[in-house]
Amino acid sequence: MAETKEKVLSVNNLVVNFRTDNGLVHAVRDVSFDVFKGETLCIVGESGSGKSVTSKAIMGILAKNAIIANGNIMYRGENLLEVSEEEFYKIRGHKIGMIFQDPLSSLNPIVRIGKQITEAMLLNNDKLKLMYNDLISDDLIHYKNTLAKMNIAINTEKKTIDALRYELKKKSYKNEAEREADERLLKEKEEHFKNFEKETHEKYTAEAKVLKEKLKETEKEAKQKVKEYKHSVNEEYKQKVANIKSKYAGISNSDEKAKYKEELKNAKTEKMDKLKITKAEAKRRAIQIMKEVGIPEPEKRYRQYPFEFSGGMRQRIVIAIALTASPEVLICDEPTTALDVTIQAQILELINRIKAERNLSCIFITHDLGVVANMADRVAVMYAGKIVEYGKAEEIFYEPKHPYTWALLSSIPDVDSKEKLEAIPGTPPNMIYPPEGDAFAARSKYAMNIDFRKQPPYFKVSDTHYAATWLLDEHAPKVEMPKIVSERIRISLEAAAKNQAVNE
Ligand SMILES: Nc1ncnc2c1ncn2[C@@H]1O[C@H](COP(=O)(O)OP(=O)(O)OP(=O)(O)O)[C@@H](O)[C@H]1O
Ligand SMILES: [Mg+2]
Repeated sequence: MAETKEKVLSVNNLVVNFRTDNGLVHAVRDVSFDVFKGETLCIVGESGSGKSVTSKAIMGILAKNAIIANGNIMYRGENLLEVSEEEFYKIRGHKIGMIFQDPLSSLNPIVRIGKQITEAMLLNNDKLKLMYNDLISDDLIHYKNTLAKMNIAINTEKKTIDALRYELKKKSYKNEAEREADERLLKEKEEHFKNFEKETHEKYTAEAKVLKEKLKETEKEAKQKVKEYKHSVNEEYKQKVANIKSKYAGISNSDEKAKYKEELKNAKTEKMDKLKITKAEAKRRAIQIMKEVGIPEPEKRYRQYPFEFSGGMRQRIVIAIALTASPEVLICDEPTTALDVTIQAQILELINRIKAERNLSCIFITHDLGVVANMADRVAVMYAGKIVEYGKAEEIFYEPKHPYTWALLSSIPDVDSKEKLEAIPGTPPNMIYPPEGDAFAARSKYAMNIDFRKQPPYFKVSDTHYAATWLLDEHAPKVEMPKIVSERIRISLEAAAKNQAVNE
C-alpha cells in the first residue's frame, strides 16, 4: 500500500554531535522519519538513545555545544535548519508546539495561570498588524530564505576548507614533496572557494533583488488592504453610533439614557474587537481552551497560581498553553513520566482526544512501550542515536524484527502480573565512541560477526515497515524471535480476537 497521506514534517539524515571536554558525543546518527497529518508517531528507546536531542533539533532549542553535522528538517517545503531566524520564531511554538516532561519547569510559579495562557495572545494583539504580517508573510519568508540559503551555501563550503587546513596543520610529513603537494591542494581549494563565494553571491543577489521588488509591491498592497479594513471598521462604527443617536433622540428618562449609554459602549467594544485581541477576548479564548483540556471551574482556576494545581492539572495547563497558538505539530517529550499512573492515563487520553479533534500531528517520545501501545499510529525504535526499526504500531508489536525491539518488548511489565519479564542485559554504548556495525550487537545474543563490523542497511519488511538488522539479510541464518515475545504476541492476538468475537 503506497502512502498517500499528507506529509507535514520530515527529518532527513539528521546528525547531531555535542562538543564536550571528553570528545565529540555522537548523539543522533543519521536519523530520518516522516510525520503525516493527523497521526501520532512514537519514538521509543532507552535513556540516552537520542530521542530528546532529535525533538530539540526540530524545535531549534539544542544546547550551545551542539553541532548539526548533516541533514535537514523539512516543514511545509522549508528546511527548518536553514530558514531565517525570523521565520523560525514564527514556526517554533506556533506551528510546532512542544510539551516537556516536567510541567512545573515550564510554568512560572509566581504568575497566575490565566495570565500565562493569555500572555502570548496579548503580546501579538494588534489585529491590523497580524493581518499585515499575514499578507506579506509568504513573500517575506521567500526573500529572507534566499539570503539565508546563500549564507549557508558559503559557510558550508568554508567549513570544509577550514577543516582541511586544520587537518594539514596537524599532519606530519615524510618528505617535503608531500607537504608541497598538500599545500598546493589547499591553495587550489582556497582559490576555488573565492570563485565559489563570488558566484554564489552573484547568483543569490540577483534572485534576492527580484524577490525584494516583489516583496515591496506586496507590502504596498498589504498596507492598502489594512487601511481599507480599518476604514471600513471605523465607518461601520460611525454608522452605528449615528443610528443609536437617532434611535434615542429626545429621550429624557434615566432608564432610556442608561440603555443608550450601554448600546454606545457595546458598539465601541465591537469596534475594538475588530482591531485588537482585547483582554476580554484573550480571557474568553483561554477559558475555552482550559475547558478543552478538562480543567474544572476554569473561571475560578484562571485566577490561581501553579502551586494550587496538582501535577496532572499543571500538565493540562501546559498543554493548554501549547494549544493557544493552534499548532499543526505537537511534540510531547515524555509528558507523563512525572505523573502517577492514573493521572498518566488521563493525560494520554487528553492528548489523544485533542489530536483527533484538531487533526494534529503528534511526535510522542517515551521509553515505555506500554504508553506507545495506547498512543501510536506508527513507531520508530531508537537505539544509540539511530532508528533501528520503524513501522505501523501493529507491525512493531506483532511482527518485530530487530533484536533491540525484541528486547524492549520482553522488558515491558506484564499486563496481568505487572512483572518485568526480562531486563535488557548490559548498558547502552558510550556515544563518544559509537560502535561500528549494529550498535546493539554487544548486548544481543543474536549478533553475528558482521554485526560488529558493518552498519546494517534498512531491510524492507513491508511498504511501511523497515528494520536495520543483518538478521534480515538473505544470507543470515533463520532466527526466531525470543519465545517470551512470540508468546506475548500470541496472547494479545488471542485476546483481541476474543474481544472482537464478543463485540460481534
Ligand atoms: N548538551 C549536551 N552535551 C553533551 N552531550 C549531550 C548533550 N545533550 C545530550 N547529550 C547526550 O546525547 C545523548 C542523547 O541524549 P537524549 O537526551 O536525546 O536522550 P533521550 O533518548 O532523550 O534519553 P532519556 O530517555 O533519558 O530522556 C546522550 O548520550 C546525552 O548524554
Ligand atoms: Mg529525553
